[in-house]
Amino acid sequence: MSTNTTSTYSDFHLQFIAGEWQTGKDDSTNTNTNPYNGDTLVEIQQATKEQLNEAYDAATQAQEAWAKQTPAARAAVLYKVVNILDQRQEEIVDWLIKESGSTRIKAMVEFGATRAITLEAATFPNRVHGEIRPSNTPGKENFIYREPIGVVAVISPWNFPLHLTQRSIAPALALGNAVVLKPASDTPVTGGLLLAKVFEEAGLPKGLLNVVVGSGSEIGDAIVEHKAPSLVSFTGSTSVGKHIGELANGGEYIKQVALELGGNSPFVVLKDADIEQAVKAAAFGKFLHQGQICIAINRVIVEDEIYDDFVERFLAHVKTLNVGDPNKQDTAVGPIINEKQVKSLKEKIAKAQEEGAKMILSGEIDGQVVPPHIFTEVTREMDLSRNEVFGPLVGIIRAKDEDDALSIANDSMYGLSSAVFTADMQKGLRFARGIRAGMTHINDISVNDESNTPFGGEKNSGIGRFNGEWVLEEFTRTHWISMQNEPREYPF
Ligand code: TAP
Repeated sequence: MSTNTTSTYSDFHLQFIAGEWQTGKDDSTNTNTNPYNGDTLVEIQQATKEQLNEAYDAATQAQEAWAKQTPAARAAVLYKVVNILDQRQEEIVDWLIKESGSTRIKAMVEFGATRAITLEAATFPNRVHGEIRPSNTPGKENFIYREPIGVVAVISPWNFPLHLTQRSIAPALALGNAVVLKPASDTPVTGGLLLAKVFEEAGLPKGLLNVVVGSGSEIGDAIVEHKAPSLVSFTGSTSVGKHIGELANGGEYIKQVALELGGNSPFVVLKDADIEQAVKAAAFGKFLHQGQICIAINRVIVEDEIYDDFVERFLAHVKTLNVGDPNKQDTAVGPIINEKQVKSLKEKIAKAQEEGAKMILSGEIDGQVVPPHIFTEVTREMDLSRNEVFGPLVGIIRAKDEDDALSIANDSMYGLSSAVFTADMQKGLRFARGIRAGMTHINDISVNDESNTPFGGEKNSGIGRFNGEWVLEEFTRTHWISMQNEPREYPF
């Protein structure tokens, strides 16, 4: 439980650049609203490109000294961040509910994941290590150093803003880098400014973490193309991710990219599965955060023999979910992040019906609250199967048998997460290994993220892995240094 004795953070209309809280100098304003009731939370004057340059200059300057700090000193800041998160848990959860439309349940999940990756990152300064390798050249020794990569640009999304931002910035800072962060315009506080307050309170030296608030379409390119960052860590849509990849590799300066993009997770229920358990899992893995999760269940694929039974039980269970005010303890489905996303969901509902899917559950859309919609007799060709839904709509596909289920599961240009339910673990493992995705969970949902296991996808779901040793490699650079200890004989 939180024991908050400090005053709550304020002044979120300011940006955190070069260690100072400053007013944005652009003419445009970000009006940050509560997606459930439309209340204005804060108005933020946005940043100019000059302020972005200032952030990069500060990051570049601060990084050198930070990289030279002892591992213990860097770890200490991260441990302090964990303490502050604990002290301010209620305040942070409250922001997640009001700014990102998180239900209380989701906000607690997100808080837990954020805390976990911070704790994991605190171990990184002491875990990073080089190697000594033998040489085929007489008298030579090979040393492989692992060094901080320098300045990291982080661009984060609105759906799990606190966690998906912290998942990049905590490892980056722990490993001796500096960060310039652009949070999503829908979540500038939970996606950036709030974390800046926490790191500042934890004593992170000035300039190492900069939060620049501005629209992606206005300053996004400049963030990527700037000379300073050696790595761009982007989490968001596949379309913007492709654009960033092109900019990072086709511009004046080549840089590394870590891209965590869209998904289309299959959730497969084989005929020997525990149907009741699969039903509960499908409901949670689909409707958590209104389905706005890159690893949310996007396609439910059920073997023919149990299809009708599954559908009947799933429908009955989903009808019991509470929909509406995210602040209430027992709300399962809260609001959608913004009107644009609501519009896109309305279009998807219409398209599913046009394409011949049978809508067996629907409900009135009230403001930005979209109740669960269930479609049956969905085929792999339909829009609901082909594209990421990012909302509380789900299509259930009938598979002839196990092979057909696997073929449907793999019939996607995405490859992020996936899940399979079966009573036979060997069958589950065989099936899981047949799926082309970065992650597969047997007898569980596709929504899993643990700070010590590799998180990431393939195909159009991105490049790179977060967490554990995998992010340790991602956020450092490798430097081979050889030492010729005796004169070498050259052919000429
Ligand atoms: P995007 O529109 O891609 O936005 C993500 C971030 O990119 C935001 O900060 C956005 O800023 C910024 N951005 C937009 N245009 C940009 C540009 N031209 N240059 C640089 N940055 C730019 O995605 P979204 O709508 O926030 O999120 C939904 C999508 O993200 C879904 O497809 C979902 O699957 C994916 N997602 C993936 C993951 C993982 S882990 N794979 C996690 C969450 C979300 P503005 O907000 O200012 O536009």
